Amino acid sequence: MGLSMCLVAVLRGLVLKLLLFKIAVFTPCFASHAHAVQPFCHDDESSTLLQFKESFVIVHTASRYESAYPKVLQWNSETRNCCSWDGVKCDEQTGNVIGLDLSSSCLFGSINSNSTLFSLRHIRMLSLADNNFNYSQIPSAITQLSGLTHLNLSRSYFYGQVPFEISNLHMLSYLDLSYNCDPDTREKFLQLKNPSLKTLVLNLTRLEGLYFSCINISSEVPGLLSNFTSLSVVGNKNLAGHIPEFHERSTLIGLGLANTSFSGRLPSSIDKLESLEKLDISRCFFSGAIPHSLGKLANITFLGLYGNNFIGHIPSSFQNLTQLTILFLRHNKITGSIPPWLGNLTKIEVLELSENKLEGPVPQSVSKLMNLELLNLLGNNLSGFLEFDMFLNMKSLTSLQLGYNNFSFVFGKTNTNATRSKFKLLGLSFCNLIEFPNFIGYQNELEWLDLAGNKIYGQIPKWMLNTSVDTLMELIIGGNFLTGFNQQSTVLPWVNLLLLDASHNMLQGPLPIPPPSIFVYDVSNNKLNGKVSHLFCNMSSLYKFKLSNNNLSGMVPHCLGNLSTSLSALSLGNNSFHGVIPQICSNSNSASSLRLIDLSHNKFQGQLPRSWSNCMMLEGIVVSNNQLVDTFPSWLGPLPELKLLVLHHNRFYGVIEKPKVDVDQFAKLHVIDFSSNNFTGVFPSQYIASWNAMKSIESNGLKYMSAEWNISLAKNYGVSGSDVYEMTVTSKGVDTYYQVIQDIFAFVDLSDNKFEGEISDLFGKLKALRSLNLSNNMLTGRIPSSLGNLTYLESLDLSRNKLSGQIPQQLTQLGFVETFNVSHNNLVGLIPQGNQFNSFDASSFEGNPGLCGDQLLKKCTTSSSSPSPFPTAEEDDGDSESLLNLVWGFVLAGYISGLVVGVALADIMINRRALSGWLRSYLTKMGKRN
Ligand SMILES: *[C@@H]1O[C@H](CO)[C@@H](O)[C@H](O)[C@H]1NC(C)=O
Ligand SMILES: *[C@@H]1O[C@H](CO)[C@@H](O)[C@H](O)[C@H]1NC(C)=O
Ligand SMILES: *[C@@H]1O[C@H](CO)[C@@H](O)[C@H](O)[C@H]1NC(C)=O
Ligand SMILES: *[C@@H]1O[C@H](CO)[C@@H](O)[C@H](O)[C@H]1NC(C)=O
Ligand SMILES: *[C@@H]1O[C@H](CO)[C@@H](O)[C@H](O)[C@H]1NC(C)=O
Ligand SMILES: *[C@@H]1O[C@H](CO)[C@@H](O)[C@H](O)[C@H]1NC(C)=O
Repeated sequence: MGLSMCLVAVLRGLVLKLLLFKIAVFTPCFASHAHAVQPFCHDDESSTLLQFKESFVIVHTASRYESAYPKVLQWNSETRNCCSWDGVKCDEQTGNVIGLDLSSSCLFGSINSNSTLFSLRHIRMLSLADNNFNYSQIPSAITQLSGLTHLNLSRSYFYGQVPFEISNLHMLSYLDLSYNCDPDTREKFLQLKNPSLKTLVLNLTRLEGLYFSCINISSEVPGLLSNFTSLSVVGNKNLAGHIPEFHERSTLIGLGLANTSFSGRLPSSIDKLESLEKLDISRCFFSGAIPHSLGKLANITFLGLYGNNFIGHIPSSFQNLTQLTILFLRHNKITGSIPPWLGNLTKIEVLELSENKLEGPVPQSVSKLMNLELLNLLGNNLSGFLEFDMFLNMKSLTSLQLGYNNFSFVFGKTNTNATRSKFKLLGLSFCNLIEFPNFIGYQNELEWLDLAGNKIYGQIPKWMLNTSVDTLMELIIGGNFLTGFNQQSTVLPWVNLLLLDASHNMLQGPLPIPPPSIFVYDVSNNKLNGKVSHLFCNMSSLYKFKLSNNNLSGMVPHCLGNLSTSLSALSLGNNSFHGVIPQICSNSNSASSLRLIDLSHNKFQGQLPRSWSNCMMLEGIVVSNNQLVDTFPSWLGPLPELKLLVLHHNRFYGVIEKPKVDVDQFAKLHVIDFSSNNFTGVFPSQYIASWNAMKSIESNGLKYMSAEWNISLAKNYGVSGSDVYEMTVTSKGVDTYYQVIQDIFAFVDLSDNKFEGEISDLFGKLKALRSLNLSNNMLTGRIPSSLGNLTYLESLDLSRNKLSGQIPQQLTQLGFVETFNVSHNNLVGLIPQGNQFNSFDASSFEGNPGLCGDQLLKKCTTSSSSPSPFPTAEEDDGDSESLLNLVWGFVLAGYISGLVVGVALADIMINRRALSGWLRSYLTKMGKRN
């Protein structure tokens, strides 16, 4: 029997980032002068302003800040004194308009150089921030406002090149053009190419604050950093440079270079920036040691160094940073121990040391940080006995993340009512816990609980369960005791819970019931039993529902289908559920967010629900190893995002009709497994022709199939994450678990059916194919020579068919093929020689009486078709593990689960590629499972 694979794919692994929304960095503002004597405004200026007002419409969604309101509404010609109008400021002597603040004023419309605005020649301060100018260019007439000292056009949907004319505004001291980019995708609308940043600011000698975040800047930042008091160019990966040596003292207060391509060392002369309060160089490419001199910047409150390649210890000079409130060192290569003097920096509110190489114990002094709100130590090599009670008295501590270290926890028998900490977020994944720690039962503000990957066994303790709602419905009807109605529910005590990850433990008993607010519920890989309660149908925010790999049984409540608007991943694989699959997305009018359905390895019966054709976001359907009886789901063909369709080992039957419509079907599909069913007839080549995703081998670096999401936690925090698809491949009874699936990976398995006819030439167009398995069917005709074009192919199995003719010489071009099997067909002639073919042994070719060649140790005679004089070789039972690793293109280093929480600045976007890069580095760190 040839290489047969079955796939089980599920969504797993939260990769989470905690965004701290409360930190406002570099807040621009205009002072208001409410008490000034009202001067009287000039008629021409008031009519100018009114005309300006008329050129826009008020659209409330044009501004995004909560406090936005249409300031211009009360402007009118009756109140002729424009100096009293909202947002207008006049010179007290002359009455000229010198300030116009229309930020967050819900203005929508285009603006160009003809705008009356540019006749306000006396204006010094202008803010149009947070409106929607509908992708207008910044008008070059801005040059007429030559007295401008402050100009703020941020977050206003300006588009195109920043005009050269801005550099004529010699008086400018404050210039903010930041965040003219898509608030969701961060597509940049503004660019600085010609003029470049350097030419632009060369003449702006008075500039103190420059805010160019989220602008497409292609040049280097000129070496004039130290002449500003505030400089921010956050969020521009095209922006590269080094931080220069500083020779003179500077008055720079804030420096924001986060998420740019700045690199090199942080110069030791940084201590010349003695006024610095905020330094954010997170997510750049800085390397080397953190300079000791940084500890001399005694006024620093915010220090963001995360996501670089800093090495060495946390400098001891940091103990002088007594004003420090926020320290981000996450995701570097920092070694050594956590210094005990950190406990003296009592203003610290956020301490982010996760994903480094810190060792040793957590110093007791940390418990002195009474202002500490968030402590993240996840993913280091910290060890030793950790007395958990040290955290229970820290009255500000709400977020604590200790996962992925080597601690031995000691939980005291503290009177848990005396606990001062009120955790909202608690991360204890992979902490070797064997039971639920007592104190968490009393943490009634928990929103986020991660206990994944521990060794917690048995039932959830009774004392912890708030109220055990027994929905016991023992009915005695006519003397019959109907135990089928007996359902006991264990209700979790945390009424605000948004996320519960208790996966990969040894929990027993019934499924614990979370509060209706729950967002992520993952109890996969435990030993839970019983049924899925109807109460889950009330959880209208449920986004991820993951029960796979337990001992659950019964029918899945059909009301779960009502969750299709919120649910993104439904993972019920490897339990004993039976009955008909719930109708999900049955309401075709309401949008569905469902991306993945995994029902594999259960006893589901009947058909695939036709309602799934309404799940427009579906990316993966995995129903392998059930008892489904159905025809080919051609009705899934139009789903635009479907990438993965695994029907393996069911009773799908019948001829697959060619698609009725002329539009491409299954165009994004790249993992296809229809094996071990009862399909008959010819597989329609029209489908193969429309599998467009497999025709391209273009790749944007290493990307994995994943689903991104975000939620808000409490009022201060937002959390976003990425769920990565995982997959198990079973080959010859050996399961190989793959933690991520490459986005470009392509795989087709139609084996073990009764397909007839010839192998379509069109398979040769699926350039991205890594594995093609058509074995054990009734295919006839020749092997198409076009298969020789599949240069990425690692496994080709055509065995056990009725193929005839010669093996095409072109197949010797398959440079990566590791497994090749054409055994048990009616092939004839000489086996091609050369390249990989010389390494295949007899098992690849046996059972073809007409084949001859070195591999079969059989010389070709002119008209030979005599049976081989040699006994057929044993089947290749070789190293399927290493083979599969090759098949999948990469070896996965191990397993992570649960959540990984980090902290990032509010204004910093989550960069998808960085996220997966992060994941990758994480994977290598965690070592191999098993
Ligand atoms: C400004 O107005 C003039 C005359 O009304 C017109 O020709 C010109 O196209 C306008 N310019 C822009 C940028 O709309
Ligand atoms: C800078 O100023 C000089 C002299 O005033 C002028 O010649 C030059 O064009 C200006 N450059 C820019 C970029 O405005
Ligand atoms: C900083 O400003 C000073 C005084 O305006 C000037 O002489 C100097 O060249 C500027 N430095 C840089 C690097 O532009
Ligand atoms: C540090 O901050 C204090 C208080 O705001 C201020 O007085 C002092 O001048 C600052 N130091 C420097 C070097 O700017
Ligand atoms: C902290 O500052 C004091 C006073 O400026 C200085 O003497 C001491 O060396 C500094 N400590 C470290 C570790 O840099
Ligand atoms: C913390 O500060 C106190 C007093 O300022 C000092 O005595 C102690 O040594 C410091 N602790 C550490 C661990 O540096």
